[in-house]
Amino acid sequence: MSEELVNSQFKGLEPSSTLQINEISHKLITEGKEVFKFGLGQSPFPIPEIIVNTLKKNAFQKDYLNVSGLLELREAVSKYHTLKNNYHYKPDNILIGPGSKELLFQCQMVIKSSLILPSPSWVSYEPQARFLNKKVYWLETSKNSNWHLTAQALEKHCLKSNKESKMLILNSPNNPSGTNNEELEKIAVVCKKNNIIVISDEIYSELDFKGKYESITHFYPEGTIITSGLSKWCGAGGWRLGTLIFPEKLSYLRSKIRSLASETFTSVSAPIQYAAVKAYTENHKNFLENSRKILNIVANYVFEELNSVNIECVKPQGGFYMLCDFTNVISRNNVINSANKLCNKILSETGFAMLPGSNFGIDDEKLITRIAFVDFDGKKALEHISKQKINQKDMYSLFPKIVDGINALKTWIEKNSG
Ligand SMILES: Cc1ncc(COP(=O)(O)O)c(C=O)c1O
Repeated sequence: MSEELVNSQFKGLEPSSTLQINEISHKLITEGKEVFKFGLGQSPFPIPEIIVNTLKKNAFQKDYLNVSGLLELREAVSKYHTLKNNYHYKPDNILIGPGSKELLFQCQMVIKSSLILPSPSWVSYEPQARFLNKKVYWLETSKNSNWHLTAQALEKHCLKSNKESKMLILNSPNNPSGTNNEELEKIAVVCKKNNIIVISDEIYSELDFKGKYESITHFYPEGTIITSGLSKWCGAGGWRLGTLIFPEKLSYLRSKIRSLASETFTSVSAPIQYAAVKAYTENHKNFLENSRKILNIVANYVFEELNSVNIECVKPQGGFYMLCDFTNVISRNNVINSANKLCNKILSETGFAMLPGSNFGIDDEKLITRIAFVDFDGKKALEHISKQKINQKDMYSLFPKIVDGINALKTWIEKNSG
């Protein structure tokens, strides 16, 4: 297909890989094949009923809302983050947008800086920077640093490029590794010293398995912009409601992003914003505690099972994801010489869908993949756990696709390892 009318930075552009794997999986299903969806990471849990009912009651809301977002919602979001992030935020520090992905893009568009990304990082940060011709620096991490950026690596980068203005995106608990950054305090010191603007992507923070809310704002609030929203903890990815939270010192950036929003998406759907107020003002303690318990049980199950066939993983601490290193079990050959080829082969031979680590900035030659462990009925699991503990004997009835999928992968490994 000719690309002559396509701007250079969009040449070769394909749909986001997480969405693509979903489309391939659906195609296999329509062909009658069984697919284990360990590719796309969306919440398995239903949106709490009180929030859904509020949406129903507000279906009549038809007016355009304030570009910043509904005041009542911004009040609730500012109170919530003031408490969680241990720093004072006002409603005027908040911007509501159609998902945090779009808000992250608008931040990247407005802020004049290079972008520092730990490798691995979530799939969309780098393409967004590429569309804007923003310079990206990948800083390597490893299993030994919990797949997270270290203060030392950041300091080293700053010494090499001290003149350039810099922005760093951190995400903890993390997609793709499910692990937490345990060096936030030390990283904050380097950021402060080098005037780095941090975007703290906290979309999974309520899904930390221990219920801890750890943020770089606890050490460097004045230079940190938080992105978050309803997509993960509230199970409302399809509602498209994200939040941006600015420290007062960076209000001039918020004001520019608000103007950009006014010329692009205008405002988030009104009924969704009215319903979102309930997400921030009601107590969802039970729902959250049970969601975390269930995710932790599934994460442990998958971790133990994969370890038993020598697939190396770091145990997740929150969220839906895990990185799997197949290096010890698959010897590279002409057919499998990249994570991409490994994923395609496993998908076509077993129906087990996962993503190559290269989608997250890991070298494709490394046989590292990301799995999402959410292919189960979250409503059924929540109902069960609200009455009784989840025991080993309940695993199959509550998580059949997880158990069958992991077994299919293990069987494939047993046949193909060596
Ligand atoms: C790390 C991370 N950040 C941001 C997002 C975007 O979330 P949303 O646009 O639904 O708020 C996702 C979604 O998968 C994600 O995994």
